Amino acid sequence: MIEKCKLIEFPQKGDDRGHLVIVEGNRDIPFEIKRVFYIYGSDRDVIRGRHANYNTEFVLINVAGTSKVKVDDGTNQKIFSLDRPHTGIFLPKMVWKDMYDFSEDSVLLVLASEHYDAEEYIRDYEQYLKVVETWKEESME
Ligand code: TYD
Repeated sequence: MIEKCKLIEFPQKGDDRGHLVIVEGNRDIPFEIKRVFYIYGSDRDVIRGRHANYNTEFVLINVAGTSKVKVDDGTNQKIFSLDRPHTGIFLPKMVWKDMYDFSEDSVLLVLASEHYDAEEYIRDYEQYLKVVETWKEESME
């Protein structure tokens, strides 16, 4: 499952007036965008996220500054650096994610495939490990 977490390079239409990056739902990213939020003002030692989602897929883009995201599918872990405004990371549903190491100027833009629903967040890692094992078995059937 971790191999589904992928960097996406977005089209750029910059010219001598400056940069322009395009992210179209169902074109540049593999879902329709239903929700947008952004995170800034987090200190470097803060860890955000710390959850998995039953249904939501995300694309994370550091439109300014830098951060890191560690993804974990219950078996494997991978760390991505978010350090370019024209590169995003796609996260499928049911991966555990930690966002951390925020630069002072970090603005982390998040595009989501679903509206917010607190019920579809798993915020306890032990619970996640149990749920994801069952989920993997069911999706192999
Ligand atoms: P949280 O999911 O903990 O943020 P992060 O994953 O970035 O660390 O969200 C913080 C609070 O904001 C929490 O009370 C839920 C609320 N929230 C919404 O109401 N809607 C949203 O779309 C998001 C992402 C969070």
